[in-house]
Amino acid sequence: MANHHFGKFADVWKHLTLVEVLALERPSRYAETHSGSGANAMLVDPERRFGVLRFLEIADTTASLGQSRYRALLKQFGDVRSFYPGSALLAMAQLGVSTSYLLCDLDPVSVEDLRAWSARLGITQCEIAQADGMTAVLDWLDDSAGSATPRHVVVHVDPFDPHSRLADGLSALDLAGRLVDEGYGLVYWYGYDSPNEASWAYHSLRETTQGPLWCGDVMLVDETGAGRPGDLGRASTSGTGSGIVLANVSENTRTTCLALGEALASAYSGSTVPDGTRGHVRFSVHERP
Ligand SMILES: C[S@@+](CC[C@H](N)C(=O)[O-])C[C@H]1O[C@@H](n2cnc3c(N)ncnc32)[C@H](O)[C@@H]1O
Repeated sequence: MANHHFGKFADVWKHLTLVEVLALERPSRYAETHSGSGANAMLVDPERRFGVLRFLEIADTTASLGQSRYRALLKQFGDVRSFYPGSALLAMAQLGVSTSYLLCDLDPVSVEDLRAWSARLGITQCEIAQADGMTAVLDWLDDSAGSATPRHVVVHVDPFDPHSRLADGLSALDLAGRLVDEGYGLVYWYGYDSPNEASWAYHSLRETTQGPLWCGDVMLVDETGAGRPGDLGRASTSGTGSGIVLANVSENTRTTCLALGEALASAYSGSTVPDGTRGHVRFSVHERP
């Protein structure tokens, strides 16, 4: 298990949007650069109580969250108090056997778990690569160039470090830029440690690309609406945040994600954040049509 952040609030927003994007875009080919394990044994701690466990509580009383595909899949997989599905497993469960997949991770334990889950779900067109995700995705896109148009492909790029690169490969952010400009569907996750970094990945991709972009950013703020620098890798505190940048997706997908973000922020107002203080979620959106 190489992902220590599963089931936290950042995962809730990432997985809530990812599954909805896949349900609406219905790609025939789907790839993940940083898949993580298929599933993770659940932890019940303040981060997960604020994350997926709180999401399930508010989904009971918030219609749009209650009807989300993410909530439906969590229920389908059973008791989230013992088991949390990662992005690749959610994607395979949502898209099923008619999509073909490339799932990448450097971690051998995650790769083994992905292989076991794809077999259990009966997914036959599934390549699981213990390899650098950026390089593997580029090769896979080159190999499939004749068989699927870019609009039938979605790539999920989910790095801890957006700038790191192996040997002479691309960074996650470089790959995301290529995908935007070549017309591929993109779901790009980013995180940050300080309020002045909100929506940073959108601003960066906006500078370096030309294609259509949508960004939904969720930042924790204290009761006054403010936040201080922290460390998202250590704790979800007021002033830290994360977001999703989508590229080359339909207007219906963008509108649906907007409504989910607004519902999530509204349902999380007046929450107890993991450090025990009271806070809110500030949701902001940027778009370049
Ligand atoms: C945040 S976790 C993935 C979480 C998963 N996508 C989810 O949402 O459930 C990041 C994963 O990236 C993997 N990783 C790190 N660098 C990588 C690289 N260059 N290529 C592929 N995987 C990488 C790590 O082993 C880790 O499992």
